[in-house]
Amino acid sequence: MALKPTNPTSTDSWKKLQSHFENLKLHHLKALFNSNPNRANDLTIHWDDFYVDYSKNRITKETIELLIDLANELDLGDAISKYFEGDIINETEKRAVLHTALRTSSNNEVLVNGANVIPEVQNVKAQIKDFTDKVVNGEHKGFTGKAIRDVVNIGIGGSDLGPAMVVDALKYYKNHLNTYFVSNVDGDHYNEIIKGLNPETTLFVIVSKTFTTQETLSNANSIKAWFLNSLPQKAISKHFVAVSTNIKSVKAFGIDANNIFPMKDWVGGRFSLWSAVGLSISLALGYDHYESLLLGAGKMDTHFRDSQFDKNLPVISGLLTIWYNNFFNAESQAIIPYTQYLNQFATYLQQGIMESNGKSVDRSGNRVSYQTGNIIWGEPGTNSQHAFFQLIHQGTKLIPADFIGFVESLHGNRDHHNKLMSNYFAQTEALMNGKTKTEVLSELQSQLLSDSEITKLLPFKVFEGNKPTTSVLIQKLTPESLGKLIAFYEHQIFVQGIIWNIYSYDQFGVELGKQLAKSILKELNCTASESSHDTSTQNLIEFYKKNC
Ligand code: F6P
Repeated sequence: MALKPTNPTSTDSWKKLQSHFENLKLHHLKALFNSNPNRANDLTIHWDDFYVDYSKNRITKETIELLIDLANELDLGDAISKYFEGDIINETEKRAVLHTALRTSSNNEVLVNGANVIPEVQNVKAQIKDFTDKVVNGEHKGFTGKAIRDVVNIGIGGSDLGPAMVVDALKYYKNHLNTYFVSNVDGDHYNEIIKGLNPETTLFVIVSKTFTTQETLSNANSIKAWFLNSLPQKAISKHFVAVSTNIKSVKAFGIDANNIFPMKDWVGGRFSLWSAVGLSISLALGYDHYESLLLGAGKMDTHFRDSQFDKNLPVISGLLTIWYNNFFNAESQAIIPYTQYLNQFATYLQQGIMESNGKSVDRSGNRVSYQTGNIIWGEPGTNSQHAFFQLIHQGTKLIPADFIGFVESLHGNRDHHNKLMSNYFAQTEALMNGKTKTEVLSELQSQLLSDSEITKLLPFKVFEGNKPTTSVLIQKLTPESLGKLIAFYEHQIFVQGIIWNIYSYDQFGVELGKQLAKSILKELNCTASESSHDTSTQNLIEFYKKNC
Protein backbone atom coordinates (compact mmCIF):
# COMPACT_ATOMS: atom_id res chain seq x y z
CA MET A 1 0.00 0.00 0.00
CA ALA A 2 1.57 3.28 -1.10
CA LEU A 3 -0.05 5.54 1.48
CA LYS A 4 -0.54 4.67 5.13
CA PRO A 5 -4.25 4.42 5.97
CA THR A 6 -4.29 6.08 9.39
CA ASN A 7 -7.50 7.50 10.81
CA PRO A 8 -6.48 11.09 11.66
CA THR A 9 -8.81 11.24 14.65
CA SER A 10 -6.92 8.39 16.29
CA THR A 11 -3.67 10.36 16.47
CA ASP A 12 -2.31 12.12 19.56
CA SER A 13 -2.04 15.38 17.66
CA TRP A 14 -5.73 15.30 16.77
CA LYS A 15 -6.62 14.95 20.43
CA LYS A 16 -4.28 17.79 21.32
CA LEU A 17 -5.79 19.91 18.55
CA GLN A 18 -9.24 19.19 19.97
CA SER A 19 -8.35 20.51 23.41
CA HIS A 20 -6.42 23.41 21.89
CA PHE A 21 -9.54 24.24 19.89
CA GLU A 22 -11.77 24.19 22.99
CA ASN A 23 -9.59 26.92 24.45
CA LEU A 24 -8.88 28.93 21.32
CA LYS A 25 -12.50 29.11 20.15
CA LEU A 26 -13.20 31.43 23.07
CA HIS A 27 -10.69 34.01 21.87
CA HIS A 28 -11.47 36.82 19.48
CA LEU A 29 -8.96 37.52 16.72
CA LYS A 30 -8.60 41.05 18.05
CA ALA A 31 -7.47 39.68 21.40
CA LEU A 32 -4.97 37.41 19.67
CA PHE A 33 -3.49 40.44 17.91
CA ASN A 34 -3.39 42.39 21.17
CA SER A 35 -1.59 39.61 22.97
CA ASN A 36 1.18 39.28 20.37
CA PRO A 37 2.56 42.41 18.71
CA ASN A 38 4.52 40.22 16.26
CA ARG A 39 1.52 38.18 15.26
CA ALA A 40 1.28 39.44 11.68
CA ASN A 41 4.96 38.74 11.01
CA ASP A 42 4.92 35.44 12.87
CA LEU A 43 2.06 34.16 10.78
CA THR A 44 3.11 35.40 7.35
CA ILE A 45 5.03 33.46 4.72
CA HIS A 46 6.83 35.51 2.09
CA TRP A 47 7.95 33.26 -0.75
CA ASP A 48 9.09 34.48 -4.14
CA ASP A 49 6.46 36.97 -5.35
CA PHE A 50 3.84 35.59 -2.92
CA TYR A 51 3.12 37.30 0.41
CA VAL A 52 0.66 35.16 2.34
CA ASP A 53 -0.63 36.49 5.63
CA TYR A 54 -2.34 33.86 7.80
CA SER A 55 -2.58 36.09 10.86
CA LYS A 56 -6.26 36.92 10.39
CA ASN A 57 -7.06 33.24 10.95
CA ARG A 58 -8.32 31.84 14.23
CA ILE A 59 -5.00 30.30 15.06
CA THR A 60 -1.88 30.88 17.12
CA LYS A 61 1.65 29.69 16.55
CA GLU A 62 0.73 26.71 18.70
CA THR A 63 -2.10 25.81 16.31
CA ILE A 64 0.36 25.68 13.44
CA GLU A 65 2.76 23.57 15.51
CA LEU A 66 0.00 21.11 16.41
CA LEU A 67 -1.23 20.92 12.82
CA ILE A 68 2.32 20.22 11.70
CA ASP A 69 2.57 17.51 14.37
CA LEU A 70 -0.57 16.02 12.88
CA ALA A 71 0.94 16.13 9.39
CA ASN A 72 4.09 14.44 10.71
CA GLU A 73 2.15 11.81 12.59
CA LEU A 74 0.32 11.03 9.36
CA ASP A 75 3.57 10.85 7.36
CA LEU A 76 2.83 13.78 5.08
CA GLY A 77 6.53 14.11 4.20
CA ASP A 78 6.73 10.53 3.03
CA ALA A 79 3.49 10.93 1.08
CA ILE A 80 4.86 14.03 -0.68
CA SER A 81 7.92 12.05 -1.79
CA LYS A 82 5.70 9.27 -3.12
CA TYR A 83 3.53 11.82 -4.98
CA PHE A 84 6.52 13.37 -6.75
CA GLU A 85 8.27 10.07 -7.38
CA GLY A 86 5.41 8.49 -9.29
CA ASP A 87 4.29 5.89 -6.75
CA ILE A 88 0.87 4.43 -7.44
CA ILE A 89 -0.90 6.73 -4.97
CA ASN A 90 -4.16 6.67 -6.97
CA GLU A 91 -4.60 3.12 -5.77
CA THR A 92 -8.23 2.59 -6.74
CA GLU A 93 -7.35 3.31 -10.36
CA LYS A 94 -3.83 1.82 -10.03
CA ARG A 95 -2.18 4.99 -11.31
CA ALA A 96 0.55 7.40 -10.39
CA VAL A 97 -0.42 11.07 -9.97
CA LEU A 98 2.13 13.00 -11.93
CA HIS A 99 0.88 16.35 -13.15
CA THR A 100 4.06 17.64 -11.47
CA ALA A 101 6.14 15.71 -14.06
CA LEU A 102 4.62 17.91 -16.76
CA ARG A 103 6.26 21.03 -15.33
CA THR A 104 9.51 19.67 -14.04
CA SER A 105 12.84 20.50 -15.65
CA SER A 106 13.77 18.42 -18.69
CA ASN A 107 16.92 17.23 -16.84
CA ASN A 108 14.90 15.47 -14.16
CA GLU A 109 13.97 11.83 -14.26
CA VAL A 110 10.50 10.65 -13.22
CA LEU A 111 9.90 6.92 -13.37
CA VAL A 112 6.56 5.27 -13.99
CA ASN A 113 6.78 1.46 -13.93
CA GLY A 114 10.54 1.81 -14.26
CA ALA A 115 10.49 4.04 -17.36
CA ASN A 116 11.47 7.72 -17.38
CA VAL A 117 8.43 9.69 -18.61
CA ILE A 118 10.22 13.01 -19.09
CA PRO A 119 11.43 12.47 -22.68
CA GLU A 120 7.85 11.82 -23.78
CA VAL A 121 6.62 14.87 -21.84
CA GLN A 122 9.20 16.94 -23.72
CA ASN A 123 8.14 15.45 -27.07
CA VAL A 124 4.53 16.43 -26.53
CA LYS A 125 5.59 19.92 -25.47
CA ALA A 126 7.63 20.21 -28.66
CA GLN A 127 4.57 19.12 -30.64
CA ILE A 128 2.43 21.75 -28.87
CA LYS A 129 5.04 24.43 -29.55
CA ASP A 130 5.42 23.52 -33.20
CA PHE A 131 1.69 23.47 -33.83
CA THR A 132 1.06 26.66 -31.83
CA ASP A 133 3.75 28.56 -33.72
CA LYS A 134 2.35 27.47 -37.07
CA VAL A 135 -1.22 28.43 -36.20
CA VAL A 136 -0.26 31.74 -34.61
CA ASN A 137 2.08 32.84 -37.40
CA GLY A 138 -0.39 31.77 -40.09
CA GLU A 139 1.72 28.99 -41.57
CA HIS A 140 -0.96 26.45 -40.71
CA LYS A 141 -3.80 27.44 -43.01
CA GLY A 142 -7.37 26.23 -43.20
CA PHE A 143 -8.52 24.03 -46.10
CA THR A 144 -9.31 26.99 -48.35
CA GLY A 145 -5.94 28.62 -47.69
CA LYS A 146 -7.11 31.16 -45.11
CA ALA A 147 -5.31 31.64 -41.81
CA ILE A 148 -6.95 30.41 -38.60
CA ARG A 149 -8.67 33.17 -36.61
CA ASP A 150 -10.83 31.29 -34.14
CA VAL A 151 -10.11 28.32 -31.89
CA VAL A 152 -12.90 26.28 -30.28
CA ASN A 153 -12.04 23.96 -27.39
CA ILE A 154 -14.58 21.14 -27.14
CA GLY A 155 -14.35 19.35 -23.79
CA ILE A 156 -15.91 19.21 -20.33
CA GLY A 157 -14.76 19.03 -16.69
CA GLY A 158 -10.99 18.95 -16.56
CA SER A 159 -10.86 19.09 -20.34
CA ASP A 160 -12.56 22.48 -20.24
CA LEU A 161 -12.40 24.25 -16.89
CA GLY A 162 -8.61 24.57 -16.60
CA PRO A 163 -7.98 25.85 -20.14
CA ALA A 164 -11.07 28.08 -20.01
CA MET A 165 -10.06 29.61 -16.67
CA VAL A 166 -6.44 30.19 -17.72
CA VAL A 167 -7.30 31.68 -21.11
CA ASP A 168 -9.69 34.07 -19.41
CA ALA A 169 -7.31 34.85 -16.55
CA LEU A 170 -4.46 35.66 -18.93
CA LYS A 171 -6.39 37.33 -21.73
CA TYR A 172 -4.28 40.44 -21.19
CA TYR A 173 -1.44 38.39 -22.76
CA LYS A 174 -3.44 36.88 -25.62
CA ASN A 175 -2.58 37.01 -29.30
CA HIS A 176 -4.90 37.70 -32.23
CA LEU A 177 -6.70 34.32 -32.05
CA ASN A 178 -10.13 34.24 -30.48
CA THR A 179 -10.73 31.26 -28.22
CA TYR A 180 -14.10 29.73 -27.33
CA PHE A 181 -15.07 26.85 -25.05
CA VAL A 182 -17.95 24.47 -25.72
CA SER A 183 -18.70 22.09 -22.86
CA ASN A 184 -22.38 21.66 -22.05
CA VAL A 185 -24.35 19.03 -23.96
CA ASP A 186 -27.12 21.61 -24.08
CA GLY A 187 -27.28 22.34 -27.82
CA ASP A 188 -27.55 26.05 -27.10
CA HIS A 189 -23.97 26.09 -25.95
CA TYR A 190 -22.30 24.98 -29.17
CA ASN A 191 -24.93 26.66 -31.34
CA GLU A 192 -24.41 30.10 -29.81
CA ILE A 193 -20.68 29.76 -30.40
CA ILE A 194 -20.54 28.37 -33.93
CA LYS A 195 -23.22 30.63 -35.32
CA GLY A 196 -20.75 33.50 -35.35
CA LEU A 197 -17.87 31.46 -36.79
CA ASN A 198 -16.56 30.83 -40.27
CA PRO A 199 -15.58 27.15 -40.70
CA GLU A 200 -12.82 28.16 -43.13
CA THR A 201 -10.95 30.06 -40.43
CA THR A 202 -11.79 27.99 -37.35
CA LEU A 203 -9.74 25.32 -35.61
CA PHE A 204 -11.54 22.84 -33.36
CA VAL A 205 -9.60 21.25 -30.50
CA ILE A 206 -11.45 18.21 -29.17
CA VAL A 207 -10.22 17.46 -25.68
CA SER A 208 -11.20 14.29 -23.90
CA LYS A 209 -8.88 12.13 -21.87
CA THR A 210 -11.10 9.09 -22.38
CA PHE A 211 -12.73 10.15 -25.66
CA THR A 212 -15.91 8.50 -24.41
CA THR A 213 -17.51 11.49 -22.68
CA GLN A 214 -21.07 11.96 -23.91
CA GLU A 215 -21.07 15.75 -23.82
CA THR A 216 -17.79 16.15 -25.68
CA LEU A 217 -18.50 13.55 -28.35
CA SER A 218 -22.02 14.89 -28.97
CA ASN A 219 -20.70 18.43 -29.34
CA ALA A 220 -17.80 17.27 -31.51
CA ASN A 221 -20.12 15.28 -33.80
CA SER A 222 -22.65 18.09 -34.15
CA ILE A 223 -19.91 20.61 -34.85
CA LYS A 224 -18.33 18.25 -37.39
CA ALA A 225 -21.70 17.91 -39.15
CA TRP A 226 -22.05 21.72 -39.21
CA PHE A 227 -18.52 21.99 -40.60
CA LEU A 228 -19.19 19.40 -43.31
CA ASN A 229 -22.17 21.43 -44.51
CA SER A 230 -19.69 23.93 -45.94
CA LEU A 231 -16.44 22.03 -46.44
CA PRO A 232 -15.55 18.52 -47.68
CA GLN A 233 -14.43 15.60 -45.50
CA LYS A 234 -10.79 16.08 -46.50
CA ALA A 235 -10.89 19.56 -44.88
CA ILE A 236 -11.16 17.90 -41.44
CA SER A 237 -7.40 17.44 -41.18
CA LYS A 238 -6.82 21.20 -41.36
CA HIS A 239 -9.53 22.11 -38.87
CA PHE A 240 -9.84 19.35 -36.24
CA VAL A 241 -7.21 18.24 -33.75
CA ALA A 242 -7.64 16.17 -30.60
CA VAL A 243 -6.09 15.67 -27.19
CA SER A 244 -6.65 12.25 -25.66
CA THR A 245 -5.23 9.03 -24.23
CA ASN A 246 -7.62 7.06 -26.46
CA ILE A 247 -5.84 7.28 -29.80
CA LYS A 248 -7.93 4.52 -31.41
CA SER A 249 -11.24 6.33 -30.82
CA VAL A 250 -9.80 9.66 -31.93
CA LYS A 251 -8.80 8.10 -35.24
CA ALA A 252 -12.22 6.47 -35.56
CA PHE A 253 -13.73 9.96 -35.20
CA GLY A 254 -11.81 10.91 -38.34
CA ILE A 255 -8.87 12.84 -36.95
CA ASP A 256 -5.48 12.49 -38.63
CA ALA A 257 -2.75 10.75 -36.61
CA ASN A 258 -0.61 13.90 -37.02
CA ASN A 259 -3.31 15.94 -35.36
CA ILE A 260 -3.43 13.92 -32.16
CA PHE A 261 -1.79 15.31 -29.04
CA PRO A 262 -1.39 12.41 -26.62
CA MET A 263 -1.73 12.49 -22.85
CA LYS A 264 -1.08 9.88 -20.20
CA ASP A 265 -3.38 8.18 -17.73
CA TRP A 266 -1.22 9.41 -14.82
CA VAL A 267 -2.55 12.92 -15.46
CA GLY A 268 -5.93 13.33 -13.78
CA GLY A 269 -8.53 15.30 -15.78
CA ARG A 270 -8.78 18.08 -13.19
CA PHE A 271 -4.99 18.44 -13.11
CA SER A 272 -4.50 18.20 -16.86
CA LEU A 273 -4.11 21.76 -18.08
CA TRP A 274 -0.35 21.20 -17.85
CA SER A 275 -0.55 18.39 -20.40
CA ALA A 276 -1.63 18.63 -24.04
CA VAL A 277 -5.05 19.55 -22.59
CA GLY A 278 -3.47 23.00 -22.36
CA LEU A 279 -3.18 23.23 -26.15
CA SER A 280 -5.91 25.87 -26.31
CA ILE A 281 -4.01 27.90 -23.72
CA SER A 282 -0.86 27.71 -25.81
CA LEU A 283 -2.79 28.71 -28.93
CA ALA A 284 -4.52 31.62 -27.21
CA LEU A 285 -1.45 33.05 -25.47
CA GLY A 286 1.44 31.75 -27.55
CA TYR A 287 3.72 28.91 -26.47
CA ASP A 288 6.13 31.07 -24.45
CA HIS A 289 3.40 32.23 -22.11
CA TYR A 290 2.19 28.65 -21.78
CA GLU A 291 5.72 27.59 -20.88
CA SER A 292 5.89 30.38 -18.25
CA LEU A 293 2.67 29.08 -16.71
CA LEU A 294 4.31 25.65 -16.39
CA LEU A 295 7.48 27.20 -15.05
CA GLY A 296 5.53 28.96 -12.30
CA ALA A 297 3.77 25.73 -11.33
CA GLY A 298 7.14 23.97 -11.31
CA LYS A 299 8.49 26.58 -8.87
CA MET A 300 5.55 25.99 -6.53
CA ASP A 301 6.17 22.23 -6.85
CA THR A 302 9.75 22.66 -5.69
CA HIS A 303 8.64 24.94 -2.85
CA PHE A 304 6.05 22.38 -1.75
CA ARG A 305 8.35 19.38 -2.06
CA ASP A 306 11.41 20.93 -0.40
CA SER A 307 10.31 23.56 2.14
CA GLN A 308 9.94 22.78 5.78
CA PHE A 309 6.33 22.59 6.75
CA ASP A 310 6.18 25.81 8.80
CA LYS A 311 7.32 27.79 5.71
CA ASN A 312 5.38 25.75 3.19
CA LEU A 313 2.41 27.55 1.63
CA PRO A 314 0.36 24.56 0.39
CA VAL A 315 1.05 22.65 3.62
CA ILE A 316 -0.04 25.48 5.91
CA SER A 317 -3.08 26.37 3.80
CA GLY A 318 -4.07 22.72 3.43
CA LEU A 319 -3.78 22.18 7.19
CA LEU A 320 -5.88 25.26 7.87
CA THR A 321 -8.68 23.72 5.84
CA ILE A 322 -8.57 20.75 8.21
CA TRP A 323 -8.59 23.11 11.18
CA TYR A 324 -11.75 24.89 10.05
CA ASN A 325 -13.48 21.88 8.53
CA ASN A 326 -12.92 19.43 11.34
CA PHE A 327 -12.65 21.56 14.47
CA PHE A 328 -14.75 24.65 13.74
CA ASN A 329 -17.15 22.54 11.61
CA ALA A 330 -16.99 25.09 8.82
CA GLU A 331 -18.47 23.49 5.73
CA SER A 332 -17.31 25.81 3.03
CA GLN A 333 -14.46 28.03 1.95
CA ALA A 334 -14.81 31.17 -0.11
CA ILE A 335 -12.25 32.11 -2.74
CA ILE A 336 -12.36 35.83 -3.44
CA PRO A 337 -9.95 37.10 -6.09
CA TYR A 338 -9.57 40.86 -6.29
CA THR A 339 -9.14 40.81 -10.04
CA GLN A 340 -11.78 40.38 -12.67
CA TYR A 341 -9.35 38.20 -14.60
CA LEU A 342 -9.82 35.42 -12.05
CA ASN A 343 -13.55 35.43 -12.61
CA GLN A 344 -13.56 31.67 -13.29
CA PHE A 345 -11.05 30.72 -10.62
CA ALA A 346 -13.51 29.49 -7.97
CA THR A 347 -15.44 27.50 -10.57
CA TYR A 348 -12.20 25.89 -11.69
CA LEU A 349 -11.23 25.07 -8.10
CA GLN A 350 -14.64 23.57 -7.44
CA GLN A 351 -13.79 20.65 -9.69
CA GLY A 352 -10.21 20.39 -8.46
CA ILE A 353 -11.10 20.42 -4.79
CA MET A 354 -14.59 18.95 -4.63
CA GLU A 355 -14.13 16.17 -7.19
CA SER A 356 -10.91 15.21 -5.43
CA ASN A 357 -11.89 15.33 -1.79
CA GLY A 358 -15.65 14.81 -1.88
CA LYS A 359 -15.16 11.30 -0.49
CA SER A 360 -16.69 9.48 2.48
CA VAL A 361 -14.73 6.22 2.42
CA ASP A 362 -11.21 6.10 3.84
CA ARG A 363 -8.14 4.43 2.37
CA SER A 364 -9.02 1.18 4.16
CA GLY A 365 -12.46 1.12 2.58
CA ASN A 366 -14.35 2.18 5.73
CA ARG A 367 -16.81 5.01 6.07
CA VAL A 368 -15.08 8.01 7.58
CA SER A 369 -16.33 9.21 10.96
CA TYR A 370 -15.34 12.83 10.34
CA GLN A 371 -16.01 15.53 7.77
CA THR A 372 -13.98 15.64 4.54
CA GLY A 373 -14.11 17.78 1.36
CA ASN A 374 -15.13 21.36 1.92
CA ILE A 375 -17.48 23.26 -0.37
CA ILE A 376 -15.72 25.80 -2.57
CA TRP A 377 -17.37 28.89 -3.87
CA GLY A 378 -16.59 32.49 -4.65
CA GLU A 379 -16.64 35.38 -7.05
CA PRO A 380 -14.34 38.28 -7.63
CA GLY A 381 -14.33 41.16 -5.16
CA THR A 382 -15.72 43.80 -5.24
CA ASN A 383 -18.76 42.28 -6.98
CA SER A 384 -19.11 39.66 -4.25
CA GLN A 385 -19.17 42.39 -1.58
CA HIS A 386 -22.39 43.61 -3.17
CA ALA A 387 -23.81 40.11 -3.37
CA PHE A 388 -23.05 37.57 -0.63
CA PHE A 389 -20.68 39.29 1.79
CA GLN A 390 -23.59 40.19 4.07
CA LEU A 391 -23.83 36.52 5.01
CA ILE A 392 -20.11 36.22 5.68
CA HIS A 393 -20.17 39.34 7.89
CA GLN A 394 -23.37 38.85 9.83
CA GLY A 395 -24.75 35.40 9.00
CA THR A 396 -24.65 32.39 11.30
CA LYS A 397 -22.08 30.37 9.37
CA LEU A 398 -18.34 30.48 9.70
CA ILE A 399 -16.85 30.89 6.23
CA PRO A 400 -13.07 31.08 6.03
CA ALA A 401 -12.15 33.08 2.96
CA ASP A 402 -9.03 33.35 0.82
CA PHE A 403 -8.50 36.86 -0.49
CA ILE A 404 -6.28 36.90 -3.58
CA GLY A 405 -4.92 40.21 -4.80
CA PHE A 406 -2.08 41.72 -6.80
CA VAL A 407 0.29 44.54 -5.91
CA GLU A 408 0.51 45.77 -9.50
CA SER A 409 -2.44 45.98 -11.83
CA LEU A 410 -2.20 45.13 -15.51
CA HIS A 411 -4.32 48.07 -16.66
CA GLY A 412 -2.03 50.62 -14.98
CA ASN A 413 -4.85 52.82 -13.72
CA ARG A 414 -3.67 53.46 -10.15
CA ASP A 415 -6.91 55.11 -9.12
CA HIS A 416 -8.95 52.00 -9.94
CA HIS A 417 -6.40 49.67 -8.46
CA ASN A 418 -6.21 51.61 -5.20
CA LYS A 419 -9.99 51.52 -4.94
CA LEU A 420 -10.03 47.78 -5.61
CA MET A 421 -7.29 46.98 -3.14
CA SER A 422 -8.64 49.31 -0.46
CA ASN A 423 -11.71 47.09 -0.53
CA TYR A 424 -9.58 43.93 -0.25
CA PHE A 425 -7.76 45.30 2.81
CA ALA A 426 -10.90 46.82 4.33
CA GLN A 427 -12.92 43.65 4.04
CA THR A 428 -10.34 41.45 5.73
CA GLU A 429 -10.04 44.04 8.50
CA ALA A 430 -13.80 44.39 8.90
CA LEU A 431 -14.33 40.63 8.91
CA MET A 432 -11.72 40.29 11.64
CA ASN A 433 -12.56 43.27 13.85
CA GLY A 434 -16.28 43.55 13.37
CA LYS A 435 -17.95 46.41 15.20
CA THR A 436 -18.71 46.26 18.92
CA LYS A 437 -21.83 47.47 20.70
CA THR A 438 -19.86 50.38 22.14
CA GLU A 439 -18.64 51.43 18.70
CA VAL A 440 -22.13 51.18 17.24
CA LEU A 441 -23.56 53.10 20.15
CA SER A 442 -21.22 56.04 19.76
CA GLU A 443 -21.80 56.04 15.99
CA LEU A 444 -25.58 56.16 16.46
CA GLN A 445 -25.29 58.80 19.16
CA SER A 446 -23.26 60.98 16.84
CA GLN A 447 -26.14 60.79 14.36
CA LEU A 448 -28.33 62.43 17.05
CA LEU A 449 -30.88 59.61 17.09
CA SER A 450 -33.31 59.28 19.98
CA ASP A 451 -32.55 56.76 22.73
CA SER A 452 -35.41 54.53 21.68
CA GLU A 453 -34.26 54.55 18.05
CA ILE A 454 -30.74 53.70 19.17
CA THR A 455 -31.92 50.81 21.35
CA LYS A 456 -33.98 49.47 18.49
CA LEU A 457 -31.24 49.69 15.86
CA LEU A 458 -28.25 48.70 17.93
CA PRO A 459 -28.38 44.86 17.69
CA PHE A 460 -28.69 44.97 13.90
CA LYS A 461 -25.64 47.14 13.47
CA VAL A 462 -23.26 45.07 15.58
CA PHE A 463 -20.70 42.93 13.72
CA GLU A 464 -19.24 40.10 15.77
CA GLY A 465 -16.10 39.98 13.63
CA ASN A 466 -13.74 37.09 14.32
CA LYS A 467 -14.28 35.89 10.72
CA PRO A 468 -11.13 34.25 9.38
CA THR A 469 -9.41 35.25 6.18
CA THR A 470 -6.10 34.43 4.52
CA SER A 471 -4.58 37.25 2.50
CA VAL A 472 -2.71 36.11 -0.58
CA LEU A 473 -0.92 39.07 -2.11
CA ILE A 474 1.03 38.45 -5.31
CA GLN A 475 3.20 40.94 -7.13
CA LYS A 476 1.47 40.82 -10.51
CA LEU A 477 -0.82 38.55 -12.52
CA THR A 478 1.47 36.90 -15.06
CA PRO A 479 1.49 33.44 -16.64
CA GLU A 480 4.18 32.45 -14.15
CA SER A 481 2.40 33.73 -11.05
CA LEU A 482 -0.86 32.13 -12.18
CA GLY A 483 0.99 28.83 -12.57
CA LYS A 484 2.19 29.16 -8.99
CA LEU A 485 -1.27 30.04 -7.73
CA ILE A 486 -2.94 27.04 -9.39
CA ALA A 487 -0.25 24.67 -8.11
CA PHE A 488 -0.65 26.22 -4.64
CA TYR A 489 -4.25 24.99 -4.54
CA GLU A 490 -3.46 21.67 -6.25
CA HIS A 491 -1.02 20.77 -3.49
CA GLN A 492 -3.48 21.80 -0.79
CA ILE A 493 -5.80 19.15 -2.23
CA PHE A 494 -3.04 16.60 -1.77
CA VAL A 495 -2.36 17.68 1.83
CA GLN A 496 -6.06 17.50 2.69
CA GLY A 497 -6.43 14.03 1.16
CA ILE A 498 -3.45 12.69 3.09
CA ILE A 499 -4.74 14.03 6.41
CA TRP A 500 -8.31 12.89 5.77
CA ASN A 501 -7.03 9.43 4.80
CA ILE A 502 -8.98 9.39 1.54
CA TYR A 503 -8.08 8.82 -2.09
CA SER A 504 -8.12 12.21 -3.79
CA TYR A 505 -7.43 11.15 -7.35
CA ASP A 506 -10.38 8.99 -8.37
CA GLN A 507 -13.91 10.27 -9.04
CA PHE A 508 -16.30 7.31 -8.97
CA GLY A 509 -19.00 9.59 -7.60
CA VAL A 510 -19.63 11.11 -11.01
CA GLU A 511 -20.35 7.74 -12.64
CA LEU A 512 -23.78 6.74 -11.32
CA GLY A 513 -25.63 9.72 -12.79
CA LYS A 514 -23.88 9.19 -16.12
CA GLN A 515 -25.00 5.52 -16.22
CA LEU A 516 -28.60 6.36 -15.38
CA ALA A 517 -28.67 9.17 -17.94
CA LYS A 518 -27.63 6.67 -20.62
CA SER A 519 -30.56 4.37 -19.96
CA ILE A 520 -33.04 7.24 -19.50
CA LEU A 521 -31.88 8.72 -22.80
CA LYS A 522 -33.26 5.68 -24.62
CA GLU A 523 -36.57 6.08 -22.82
CA LEU A 524 -36.91 9.69 -23.93
CA ASN A 525 -37.30 8.49 -27.49
CA CYS A 526 -40.99 9.18 -28.29
CA THR A 527 -41.73 5.58 -29.30
CA ALA A 528 -39.85 3.95 -26.43
CA SER A 529 -41.58 2.64 -23.35
CA GLU A 530 -40.27 3.62 -19.95
CA SER A 531 -38.69 1.15 -17.61
CA SER A 532 -39.53 1.30 -13.95
CA HIS A 533 -38.44 4.31 -11.92
CA ASP A 534 -39.51 5.83 -8.66
CA THR A 535 -42.82 7.62 -9.10
CA SER A 536 -41.24 11.07 -9.06
CA THR A 537 -38.82 10.30 -11.90
CA GLN A 538 -41.56 8.42 -13.76
CA ASN A 539 -43.91 11.44 -13.57
CA LEU A 540 -41.18 13.82 -14.70
CA ILE A 541 -40.35 11.68 -17.73
CA GLU A 542 -44.03 11.37 -18.64
CA PHE A 543 -44.53 15.11 -18.31
CA TYR A 544 -41.49 15.71 -20.53
CA LYS A 545 -42.74 13.23 -23.14
CA LYS A 546 -46.05 15.02 -23.48
CA ASN A 547 -44.07 17.17 -25.89
CA CYS A 548 -43.48 14.16 -28.22
O1 F6P B 1 -16.83 14.53 -14.58
C1 F6P B 1 -15.99 13.43 -14.53
C2 F6P B 1 -14.82 13.53 -15.45
O2 F6P B 1 -14.30 12.23 -15.55
C3 F6P B 1 -13.77 14.50 -14.99
O3 F6P B 1 -12.96 14.01 -14.00
C4 F6P B 1 -13.08 14.81 -16.25
O4 F6P B 1 -12.30 15.95 -16.12
C5 F6P B 1 -14.25 14.97 -17.17
O5 F6P B 1 -15.16 13.97 -16.74
C6 F6P B 1 -13.98 14.87 -18.64
O6 F6P B 1 -13.48 13.62 -19.01
P1 F6P B 1 -12.76 13.40 -20.39
O7 F6P B 1 -11.59 14.28 -20.47
O8 F6P B 1 -12.39 11.95 -20.40
O9 F6P B 1 -13.75 13.72 -21.49
